[in-house]
Amino acid sequence: MRKRPIVSVAAGALALLLSVPASAAQGGPGAAGIGDPYYPNAGNGGYDVSHYDIRLKYQPATDELAGTTTILATAAQDLTRFNLDFVLEVKEVLVNGRTAKFAGTGEHELEITPARVITKGSPITVVVRYADRPGEVERGGQSAWLRTPDGGVAANEPESAAWWYPSNDHPTDKATFDVSVLVPDGTQVISNGTSTQSSRAGWTRYNYRQTKPQATYLATLAIGRFDIRADTTPGGLPVITAYSKDLGDNAGAAQASVERTGELVDWLSGYFGAYPFGTVGGYVPNVPTGYALETQGQIFYSPAQFSRGSNTSVVVHELAHQWYGDSVSVQRWSDIWLNEGFARYSQWLWSEHENEGTTQELADYVYNLYPADHEFWTIKPGDPGADHQFAGAVYDRGAVAVQALRNAVGDEKFFRILQGWPTERKYGNATIQDFQAYAERISGKPLGELLNTWLFTAAKPAVGSAGAAAPSLAKSGPALSGATADVAPEPRSWKKIQETNTVHEHRS
Ligand code: ARG
Ligand code: ZN
Repeated sequence: MRKRPIVSVAAGALALLLSVPASAAQGGPGAAGIGDPYYPNAGNGGYDVSHYDIRLKYQPATDELAGTTTILATAAQDLTRFNLDFVLEVKEVLVNGRTAKFAGTGEHELEITPARVITKGSPITVVVRYADRPGEVERGGQSAWLRTPDGGVAANEPESAAWWYPSNDHPTDKATFDVSVLVPDGTQVISNGTSTQSSRAGWTRYNYRQTKPQATYLATLAIGRFDIRADTTPGGLPVITAYSKDLGDNAGAAQASVERTGELVDWLSGYFGAYPFGTVGGYVPNVPTGYALETQGQIFYSPAQFSRGSNTSVVVHELAHQWYGDSVSVQRWSDIWLNEGFARYSQWLWSEHENEGTTQELADYVYNLYPADHEFWTIKPGDPGADHQFAGAVYDRGAVAVQALRNAVGDEKFFRILQGWPTERKYGNATIQDFQAYAERISGKPLGELLNTWLFTAAKPAVGSAGAAAPSLAKSGPALSGATADVAPEPRSWKKIQETNTVHEHRS
């Protein structure tokens, strides 16, 4: 479901330079990467996926995952060969019903050579049969399959799909999903969307269906012993929540937070407009990670986030991503501010709602917390680099940027932008530049200097310089008085908000 190429200008210029004939640029092997500047091998070129049908069997005792994924795609060029992203051991590949040659190459490439050349515009059906123990498969010293005593969970950003299904693993190629997993009776399966189940001879099959476009990293799979609850919001939206049976001391706080999903999604709809998906929910598996992940309509949380008591703030953050990140997804991973800046800002709105500090107080606090020579200001939220994609500054400086935007355009325009953007770009992809153009159109103000200062400059914005005012300047007239940490007291929500992404992580 790709809408447009990412950056083909450079590749096009290079092709001209090397005088590659037009026919070669049209046909031949599909590229090993989709063209993401941070992750050159993420995704693949030459085709668009419309649907994944993932049909698996899993044995919690041995971590054996086996089955078949069927991919429906359309050729974007003549293809002699194409790649999928996958790390598990493949047994067999069929393309349009014929046995195809395949080879695993690089970090996560599955190179497929079909028996016949596929012509541009024609449909492709790829069947991949595989079996492996995903917890034992590492890339760069890591596995995105988190083994638990009772099963396992696929989770990571930007990459986790390759540990459980072959895909075109980049947010620009969204697709619909059917996920069906057979597990021994007594074990439960969590994935995205609506579900049915059936039992026979000691095994239960769980079928999940996601009918809205979904990015590959937002597909989720958790297998283990879960208590699953199903309910609906007052507005009729199905809510599914699930908790590992082994959460121990964290069980109460986890439930007291995640059970508020329905209420919080309604509250956020007031800012962002109608919730974009058919189901909403969250699950807490028994994993040692410290982060949550905004998996579409079924959020992954870590027990550690509830180890200091309830945490509705993290629920607000991940729910905000359903609009900012899941429905409207990054065009390139460098656009991550469109996800994390706005999800963090939503926590600030929740803080203000709960009387635990206003958005302005939080912005001022961040501004004052880090002196100009602090490393914090060297991270550009608008282009943090692959190694700093989830740095604290992307979230906190990113949210200050949102407050600076609000102060520049005024509340009326700001809240129109906040709600209009997810509608304008529903189920699509966008760059920060696209957002800027939209915000300029709605506000009638040039925003280049402001966004450049807050997102694209590796330095602390100076108080008083044009477009670089301390966040409160535009609102309250004079600059921050004093501008030292002791005059901006720590908002009551601060520590809880930080627990969204800074609770101790066993893996990084
Ligand atoms: N999008 C996630 C969140 O903000 C961050 C995931 C970070 N990934 C990681 N492996 N630490 O909630
Ligand atoms: Zn986030």
